Amino acid sequence: MNMLMKLLVTGGAGFIGSNFIHYMLGAHDDVSIINLDALTYAGNLENLQSVENDDRYTFVKGNICDRDVVFDLVKDVDAIVHFAAETHVDRSIMEPAIFLNTNVLGTQVLLDAAKEYDKRFHHVSTDEVFGALGQNDAPFNEDTPYDPRSPYSAAKAASDHLVRAYYHTYGVQITISNCSNNYGPYMFPEKVLPLFITRLMADKTVPVYGDGLQVRDWIHVTDHNRGVDMILRKGRIGETYCLGGKDAEINNLNLTKLLLKIMGKDESHIEFVKDRAGHDFRYAVDYSKAQKELGWEPQVSLEEGLTDMVEWYLSHQDWVERCLSGDYQAYYDKQYIKR
Ligand code: NAD
Ligand code: DAU
Repeated sequence: MNMLMKLLVTGGAGFIGSNFIHYMLGAHDDVSIINLDALTYAGNLENLQSVENDDRYTFVKGNICDRDVVFDLVKDVDAIVHFAAETHVDRSIMEPAIFLNTNVLGTQVLLDAAKEYDKRFHHVSTDEVFGALGQNDAPFNEDTPYDPRSPYSAAKAASDHLVRAYYHTYGVQITISNCSNNYGPYMFPEKVLPLFITRLMADKTVPVYGDGLQVRDWIHVTDHNRGVDMILRKGRIGETYCLGGKDAEINNLNLTKLLLKIMGKDESHIEFVKDRAGHDFRYAVDYSKAQKELGWEPQVSLEEGLTDMVEWYLSHQDWVERCLSGDYQAYYDKQYIKR
């Protein structure tokens, strides 16, 4: 990779993408970033307010399915780091079509542009493509067969296959990361942790699906993004790397109890609700390939990371309010006209 690295980050106004931009601009002087984001309900430019005036950062509002926009941007960068996606499993159950459009067809447009201009392409994917584990199954690794079970994970699996197909067929310089459940600042309050934190901030109950015994493997978003950075710089072309949390396998009920403890709330706040359709029982990730090849491993323990996350939400009540009220769209309009 060049010393001066010009990146096209897609989906950089979302949760992981905005954390990635902060991470990369903070960690490296030799990086500049163009952030291409359609600003769906999940995109929030307020996440990037502190880098708006950084010369190394540019925002472009646009859709990854728009070939003209994508080709125009890709020709001038060294690498694409592809985060943009529809990402919430419950929304994919309600309305699958947009998941296929963005996650599959949008990825194909980016791959076409990477092929045309011979650019490095890193695809950010999920451990959900591997399906669901039983209690005693070995964790997912890079050789686990694909078995997606929700419209979201099926669309992400299709995109992973396309990325590998462009490597094998056209020689596009790709890498893929399959990561477990992320948490941290700037997380839109619809996924379980930010939803529960923001509800508890308002002293409301938290809706636990089914019996709450499903297991997830939690990784702090900074650990994930450091992994993506290392794959970009040191990953072998054509390879996939699984990234997971630091001893962070926990079932939803115990996660909820840990959160209640951190927030000083009692268990009367737990409300059991109807289960998610096709609810995957367990995800867990074996990250030993990334550890061995890249020297990457997660550093943030769940209790430490969750405590920090709660503190961040408590000290960003305005951000929470604006997310919940949709006011950040007004923020964008204001910001855009000003430019
Ligand atoms: P997010 O939903 O918070 O953000 C998605 C971003 O993509 C938003 O800014 C949105 O505006 C943008 N976007 C959506 N459709 C677009 C389109 N057609 N064109 C341009 N921009 C578009 O998502 P996230 O949780 O930050 O996830 C980012 C990536 O990481 C996704 O690819 C997801 O599959 C993957 N991932 C997420 C997790 C997790 O726990 N959240 C774990 C592993 C992998
Ligand atoms: O594993 C990586 C994936 O993690 C990412 O690819 C997805 O983009 C991300 O959304 C996440 O998927 P999950 O379905 O695991 O995350 P979610 O936060 O929606 O749910 C986590 C667990 O909590 C899951 O078992 C369902 C449960 N849950 C979720 C919600 C929203 C509840 O019990 N109650 C809820 O209200």
